[in-house]
Amino acid sequence: MKRILISLVVLLLAGAGAYHYLTRSDPSPGTAPVLQGVATAGSLIARGAYLARAADCVACHTTAGGKAFAGGLAFKLPFGTLYSSNITSDPKTGIGNWSDDDFVRALHDGIRHDGQRLYPAFPYTSYSLLSRDDVLAIKAYLFSLPAVEQATPLPALSFPFNQRWAMGLWNAAFFKSERFVPEAAKSAQWNQGAYLANALAHCAECHTPRNIGFALDHRNALAGAVVNGWQAPNITADALYGIGKWSDEELYQYLRFGHAAGHGSAGGPMGEAVENSLQYLAPQDTRALISYLRSVPARAGHNPVAINPQPDSVAKSGAYAPAPTTPAGLQPGLRLFEASCASCHQWNGGGAQTGNAALLGARAVNDVSGRNVVQTILHGANMRIGSGEVLMPSFASFTDDEIAQLSNYVIFQFGGKPGKVTPETVAAQRKN
Ligand code: HEC
Ligand code: HEC
Ligand code: HEC
Repeated sequence: MKRILISLVVLLLAGAGAYHYLTRSDPSPGTAPVLQGVATAGSLIARGAYLARAADCVACHTTAGGKAFAGGLAFKLPFGTLYSSNITSDPKTGIGNWSDDDFVRALHDGIRHDGQRLYPAFPYTSYSLLSRDDVLAIKAYLFSLPAVEQATPLPALSFPFNQRWAMGLWNAAFFKSERFVPEAAKSAQWNQGAYLANALAHCAECHTPRNIGFALDHRNALAGAVVNGWQAPNITADALYGIGKWSDEELYQYLRFGHAAGHGSAGGPMGEAVENSLQYLAPQDTRALISYLRSVPARAGHNPVAINPQPDSVAKSGAYAPAPTTPAGLQPGLRLFEASCASCHQWNGGGAQTGNAALLGARAVNDVSGRNVVQTILHGANMRIGSGEVLMPSFASFTDDEIAQLSNYVIFQFGGKPGKVTPETVAAQRKN
C-alpha cells in the first residue's frame, strides 16, 4: 500500500511537471526493417497475421476457451482489475467503427477512438515503435477475421486509478510516442532483431524491471523482473547471470521450441509466448532476434542467479535413485519428489519421456527464492509446440508446507543450493 501511495505521488508530481508535453506525439509513419516473415508473406493480410503473431496480440485479447481477439481477459493490478478489449471488427462491442487513424493512434499513443487514455497494461509503450504500415497490416488482418459480439467488462479500479485522464500524466512522465529508427552503424540483421524484440515481441515488458511509477527501468534493460508471480530471468549478455554463456543454437532452440538442452524449459508466461508467438517466427527472424540479444549490455540485475551446472547431489545420484547423502531436513521433500515427480524428472535431472523435463542447468532450480519452482508446482505446464504437447500436471492441491519442502529439495538436488522457500512465500504466490 505504501509503495502504491509513493508511486502515486511520484506519478502526479512527475506528470504535472511534464504536463505541457502532453500533446507531444510523434506523427511520423516510421520505417520498419524488413523481416523475413514479412517479406515472404505475400498479401497485406498475411503480413498482418505474421506481425500480430510476433506481437502476440492474441495472448492478452483472448480468454481461455474464448473466441480469438474478443477480449475480456482480466489483468489484476495492484489497484484493481482491468479487462482487455474486444478487438474484433464487431462495430458495437469491438473496433469495427475505428478508422485507420484511430487504430494507429491506439497503438502509437495509447489513445482510444473516443479520445480516452488507455492503460499501459496494453503495451502501446512498445507498439509505439511500429511503423504505420505495419500497424495497418495488423488492422487489415484483424478486420479479415469474423466479428465477435462480446462486450468488454468495465474496469474495476480504485480512485484515482479509475480516472483515464490521469494516464495522461503517466504518459507525460514516462512515455514518448516515437517510431523505431534503424541504426545505420549496425547490421541489417541487428536492426531486424531490435525491431522484433522492442516494437513487436515486447520482451522488455516482462524482462525489464519497473520503476516506482510502474514504468520500464531502461537502465536495467532485460536484467530480470517479476511478472504475474513468475520471475522473468536476466536475459542480458552477462555470462554469469544472463544468457552470455548460451550458444546461438541453444537460444534458437529455447525461443522456437521452448527448451534448450542444459538450460531447462520455458514455463508460465514464457511458455505462452513461445506457444502463441515465437514458434511461428521465420528462422532468419529468430536469428536476428538472437543477434540483437547478444548486444544488450551485461548487467547483474536485482535478483542475480548463477547456474551450478553439476551439483554434487546430482553427481552422486543415478537416473533412478537419489544420492544417499541427502541431509535429514530435506528428507520429507525427497519423499514427496519420489512419490510425485521422479518418474518424469529422474533423480539426476535428466528427464524421462521428454527432454523438456530435464531440470539440470535450469535457472528456476538455481534461484534460491524458488519463485518459478513454486509457480511450476502450482500451475503445471501445458505448451503446444508444432503438433506436440509438453505436459506437467498442477500440484496446487499440495499444502503450502508440502510445496515448500518439495521446492527446497528440488533447489538443493538440482541447483546444489539451500532453498529459501517457506509456507508463507508459497501462500503469497498462490494468491497471484
Ligand atoms: C500484454 C497484454 C496485451 C497485449 C500483448 C496486447 N494488448 Fe491490446 N490491450 C490490452 C489491454 C489490457 C487493453 C485495455 C486497456 C484499457 O482498457 O485501457 C488493450 C486495449 C487495446 C486496444 C483498445 C481497444 C478499445 O476498444 O479501447 C486496442 C486497439 C488493442 N489493445 C490492440 C492490440 C493489438 C493490435 C495488439 C498486438 C499488436 C495488442 N493489443 C496486444 C492488453 C494487451
Ligand atoms: C508427467 C510428467 C511430470 C511430472 C509428474 C512432474 N513434472 Fe515437472 N515438468 C515436466 C515437464 C514436461 C516440464 C517442462 C515444462 C515446460 O516445458 O514448460 C516440467 C517442468 C518442471 C520445472 C521447471 C523447469 C524449468 O526449466 O524451468 C520444475 C521446477 C518442475 N517441473 C518440478 C516438478 C516437481 C517438483 C514435480 C512433482 C511435484 C513435477 N515437476 C512433476 C513433467 C513433469
Ligand atoms: C509475457 C512475459 C514474457 C515475454 C513477453 C517474454 N518473456 Fe522470456 N521469460 C519469461 C519468463 C516468466 C521466463 C522464465 C520461464 C521459466 O523459468 O520457466 C522467461 C525466460 C526466458 C529465457 C530463459 C532464460 C533463462 O535463464 O532460463 C529467455 C532466453 C527468454 N525468456 C527470452 C525472451 C525473449 C528474447 C523475449 C522476446 C522475444 C521474451 N523472452 C519475451 C517471460 C516473458
